Amino acid sequence: MLSTAVLTAALAAAPAYAAVAQSPTQQSSTYTGKSNSTLPKSPVVAGKSFDRFISIVLENTDYATSPSSPVFQNLSSQGVLMNGYYGVTHPSEPNYLAMATGSFFGMHGDAFYAFPQNVSTVADLLEAKNISWALGVSQENMPYDGFTGFNYTEKNYISGTGNYTYYVRKHNPTILADSVAGNPERALRHRNFNDFAADIQADALPQWMFITPNLVNDGHDTTIDFQSQWLEYFLYPLLADERFNNNRTLILLTYDENETYEENNQVYTIALGKGIPKELVGTTDNTYYTHYSSLSTVEANWGLGSLGRGDTNKTLANVYSWVANATGYQNNGLTNSSSNLPLTNLTGIFPGFANDEMWTPILAPNMSAIGAGGGPVFAGNGTNMQLTSWDQPINWTARGEPNPAHTDPGFDYSSGSLVIKPSASSSSSAAGPSATGSVGQGGNSQGGNQNGNAQGSNVQAKSGAVSVVVPFAGALAAVAGVVALL
Ligand SMILES: *[C@@H]1O[C@H](CO)[C@@H](O)[C@H](O)[C@H]1NC(C)=O
Ligand SMILES: *[C@@H]1O[C@H](CO)[C@@H](O)[C@H](O)[C@H]1NC(C)=O
Ligand SMILES: *[C@@H]1O[C@H](CO)[C@@H](O)[C@H](O)[C@H]1NC(C)=O
Ligand SMILES: *[C@@H]1O[C@H](CO)[C@@H](O)[C@H](O)[C@H]1NC(C)=O
Ligand SMILES: *[C@@H]1O[C@H](CO)[C@@H](O)[C@H](O)[C@H]1NC(C)=O
Ligand SMILES: *[C@@H]1O[C@H](CO)[C@@H](O)[C@H](O)[C@H]1NC(C)=O
Ligand SMILES: *[C@@H]1O[C@H](CO)[C@@H](O)[C@H](O)[C@H]1NC(C)=O
Ligand SMILES: *[C@@H]1O[C@H](CO)[C@@H](O)[C@H](O)[C@H]1NC(C)=O
Ligand SMILES: *[C@@H]1O[C@H](CO)[C@@H](O)[C@H](O)[C@H]1NC(C)=O
Ligand SMILES: *[C@@H]1O[C@H](CO)[C@@H](O)[C@H](O)[C@H]1NC(C)=O
Ligand SMILES: *[C@@H]1O[C@H](CO)[C@@H](O)[C@H](O)[C@H]1NC(C)=O
Ligand SMILES: *[C@@H]1O[C@H](CO)[C@@H](O)[C@H](O)[C@H]1NC(C)=O
Repeated sequence: MLSTAVLTAALAAAPAYAAVAQSPTQQSSTYTGKSNSTLPKSPVVAGKSFDRFISIVLENTDYATSPSSPVFQNLSSQGVLMNGYYGVTHPSEPNYLAMATGSFFGMHGDAFYAFPQNVSTVADLLEAKNISWALGVSQENMPYDGFTGFNYTEKNYISGTGNYTYYVRKHNPTILADSVAGNPERALRHRNFNDFAADIQADALPQWMFITPNLVNDGHDTTIDFQSQWLEYFLYPLLADERFNNNRTLILLTYDENETYEENNQVYTIALGKGIPKELVGTTDNTYYTHYSSLSTVEANWGLGSLGRGDTNKTLANVYSWVANATGYQNNGLTNSSSNLPLTNLTGIFPGFANDEMWTPILAPNMSAIGAGGGPVFAGNGTNMQLTSWDQPINWTARGEPNPAHTDPGFDYSSGSLVIKPSASSSSSAAGPSATGSVGQGGNSQGGNQNGNAQGSNVQAKSGAVSVVVPFAGALAAVAGVVALL
């Protein structure tokens, strides 16, 4: 959507696709930051259908355009074309967020957002099952591991002159959550493509990965041809590389959102990988899926807990059909031709923490939800279980005050370890929070002078963090315990 014009000149003078490296398994000087080390190799935790799940998310291409590309034709012949896959809202950032947290919290823009410690993510679910070191988030042009900035600009490797913004935070879903970004162990698992090259050379790729190509390779600033040529460069060789794609690998190639807001939000999606049952290769699956299905499918596969949000919504979170079969999960029967599909092209009308004009605090997840994996609902550290609804949303625009969701908590890993920078906004209490999260005790601080209070109190709480993992049987007892702590 933006800076297409900026790139047009460069594209005219350059080949449609300028390879960033010899191959995706080699480090490249066109990226800032050589890899310092590889991820530790961890024992493989077997899933019921697959042992590795890799999401690759592309941008801004019409659903109708992708099939005209020989590369997409080639890829769909090697996998399953998922013809009923939908984004959950508009624009980009809320769709990415949804894939990591099971909600977009009312978000309706692409601004800087940060979500408090009590927002749980897929990382909580994976780590609880010792799918250790599984949060391998590979962001093509991140300057260093754990980068939390809004974007990153470096030398334009296509035109060779000037600079270009290749990396954007809004396409990096897990870094948006403070429970990840404020936890060095987790934050440093956001690595760039030089790290990816080092990890694959060491045969140490994790079991769950989220791959975000840069703004030219994902098609955001370019064309379907450019995107296709990047896929030829990046994905073709990796599909043939056992260290990436073996007979237990499932790869999701999808788009964040449909370009035309006036239509429902169908996104062109292919499931790839040698872990797909052979008889399904080259077929089309019409089952209704949304971005929440990428969570529910992973939950079903490894028998994980859930986030108690969109990932447990029976309408929106069908499990990929063959994984549903392998795990005994019952999908809802909706297909792309059902007449009653929910409209997921709506934006700006949902109250929530990330809605500037209809703000609510983060509400507790649905603790009694039963997700596709059957495990417990994970509430983030410091969740106020009683805060399940909010009657009077706040209009920050009308108040002339910023939504606290835009407050930068200031997590900085440029030195290789966590330093809390004085926040660009309200908080002056930047000194020494515990690195691994703190309890948001200011849960009810929204009554009066709201600006930044939620974040400020978060930073001040140094101790008392509590892990709120609630098995179904013990739900009430655990809730009581948490409430007592708050
Ligand atoms: C958007 O999705 C609709 C289906 O809901 C599809 O017919 C249309 O081609 C898509 N439009 C674009 C621009 O991708
Ligand atoms: C897809 O591309 C790969 C790599 O170039 C090639 O080996 C394969 O034959 C192609 N498959 C189809 C169906 O075009
Ligand atoms: C490697 O470590 C150095 C020093 O801490 C840092 O400057 C560099 O950005 C790191 N590289 C990556 C890819 O993180
Ligand atoms: C990058 O961030 C700067 C500073 O916040 C902003 O002015 C610029 O518009 C951003 N560019 C992109 C492409 O996001
Ligand atoms: C290009 O970016 C580098 C840092 O990545 C910066 O040092 C330099 O000043 C920038 N040049 C221009 C012309 O903006
Ligand atoms: C998958 O690959 C492993 C290791 O190469 C092999 O032992 C196993 O038999 C293969 N399974 C199938 C179903 O092909
Ligand atoms: C969403 O899509 C539906 C069905 O295509 C359409 O009728 C509606 O106008 C769209 N809504 C918006 C807000 O564009
Ligand atoms: C599940 O999603 C549907 C479609 O968006 C929505 O109507 C319904 O209220 C959601 N259910 C729950 C329990 O949130
Ligand atoms: C799932 O199982 C049903 C019933 O056995 C079968 O009809 C269907 O083809 C299977 N679907 C997939 C995708 O494996
Ligand atoms: C919020 O306030 C702004 C400025 O007063 C106004 O334009 C907007 O309509 C309000 N939004 C809502 C949802 O009330
Ligand atoms: C989550 O944490 C924020 C920040 O501390 C707080 O404002 C909010 O009330 C909390 N929500 C719940 C459900 O705990
Ligand atoms: C939650 O709190 C516990 C106990 O202090 C801590 O060990 C854990 O790292 C925290 N989790 C997160 C995601 O911050």
